Amino acid sequence: MNTLKKAYCRVYQAGFRLALPLLPYREPKILKTVGGAAKLIRAKGGKKVMIVTDAGITKLGIHENLINQLKIQGVDYVIYDKTVPNPTFDNVEEAYALYKKEGCDCLIGLGGGSSMDCAKGVGARAARPKKTIDKLMGKFKVFKKIPLLIAIPTTAGTGSEVTVASVLTNSETQTKYPIYDFFLIPYYAVHDWRLTAGLPKHLTATTGMDALTHAVEAYIGRSTTKHTRKLSEDAVKLIHDNLYDAYLDGHNEKARQNILYASYLAGASFTQSYVGYVHGLAHALGGKYGTPHGLANSVILPHFLRAYGKAVEKKLAKLARITCEANVFDDDHAACEKFISWVEEMNEKMEIPRYIEGIDPADFDFMAGRADKEANPLYPVPVLMDKNELVKMYRVVCGNVREHNFKKASEAGLREHDAHRAHVKKSS
Ligand SMILES: NC(=O)c1ccc[n+]([C@@H]2O[C@H](COP(=O)([O-])OP(=O)(O)OC[C@H]3O[C@@H](n4cnc5c(N)ncnc54)[C@H](O)[C@@H]3O)[C@@H](O)[C@H]2O)c1
Ligand SMILES: [Fe+2]
Repeated sequence: MNTLKKAYCRVYQAGFRLALPLLPYREPKILKTVGGAAKLIRAKGGKKVMIVTDAGITKLGIHENLINQLKIQGVDYVIYDKTVPNPTFDNVEEAYALYKKEGCDCLIGLGGGSSMDCAKGVGARAARPKKTIDKLMGKFKVFKKIPLLIAIPTTAGTGSEVTVASVLTNSETQTKYPIYDFFLIPYYAVHDWRLTAGLPKHLTATTGMDALTHAVEAYIGRSTTKHTRKLSEDAVKLIHDNLYDAYLDGHNEKARQNILYASYLAGASFTQSYVGYVHGLAHALGGKYGTPHGLANSVILPHFLRAYGKAVEKKLAKLARITCEANVFDDDHAACEKFISWVEEMNEKMEIPRYIEGIDPADFDFMAGRADKEANPLYPVPVLMDKNELVKMYRVVCGNVREHNFKKASEAGLREHDAHRAHVKKSS
């Protein structure tokens, strides 16, 4: 990235960092059961609730207890279960049309990040009925209270129940990007590990690594506070100590509970301290190829941690020490390497591939453009990269480099990146 653009990005980010203490972040009140959610709706005078979910959830019957509880409380409901992974503008519009037709006055997002984000989108539409969802994308365009929204996560990964974001896809342009608005933070969330118990192994793995990505990207970014650093550290430790156990045994109560909490902590951290290029690349892949979000992040994360090099060494070394991956004899360089190796090992143990496969290199340019647009200037990443550098990172994460060895490929990406940076420095 050229010096002028770099300066612009850093000044922009500094503005947001200075404003951080003034911004109205809040956290949802956590309920323990779906019965608590039903009681709450009744207590708040809700007449008819729309449950926004997906077909996987209804097929498995994960929604049934919620329905029974709503019936006990005498709360009427309607179900929208057509949310797709990487939820679309069409999902939101279709669900909102149903919300209006059925005379609903409150919302439950039941499912993974896709269902919760779709519910947030419907809330945004209800607050701004004259604007279609495409007009509400971006920053602070909703800016109005949405109807009562209760988020009920059934995956432990996105932390959407505590964030300002809803990430939606425009299927026509094959682009995926977020709405950010404080009014989208749900006032209530249900944390019940039993809803996540049936999550298949590969989804436990990739959604858990998504949570890790949130914690780590927020932590290595430049807009952290003491509070968000602690949130990230706690999340990383919990994921380190519990994700693999949850992967091995989905009914391990302690592991499931801890991962669900970790996902929340990581969400609380990144919603204030942002994510980074890992998410930028993952969102562009989701928009263009429908790559599942957690999978994309899991694969991309270690490549970027290597590419960031020295800029993240101290912080990753600290995470290595917190998780006991490093010992007292390790200097920062060795400890950092141990943390990245642990991330790679987790991926390997949980059968997450080393590269994103099946991507046409002809699309790198388009996707890098999208990632650049999403991340720059907003995300306070440790090392700034422009579109060309992000194209190179796509080459690395898609295995489009000569080396077939994972580590070598990442290192090759880093070398390319460093050489390019040196070249830019020399010529500027
Ligand atoms: N708003 C935010 O702050 C935020 C943060 C991160 C990610 N996201 C978004 O969230 C989406 C990804 O969410 P996700 O990773 O939770 O996956 P998802 O919501 O797309 O769900 C993936 C699959 O898991 C199934 N599933 C969910 N819970 C299950 C359970 N308990 N048992 C069995 N199957 C279950 C679903 O039916 C679905 O088929 C992406 O669109 C991503 O961009 C949003
Ligand atoms: Fe994410």
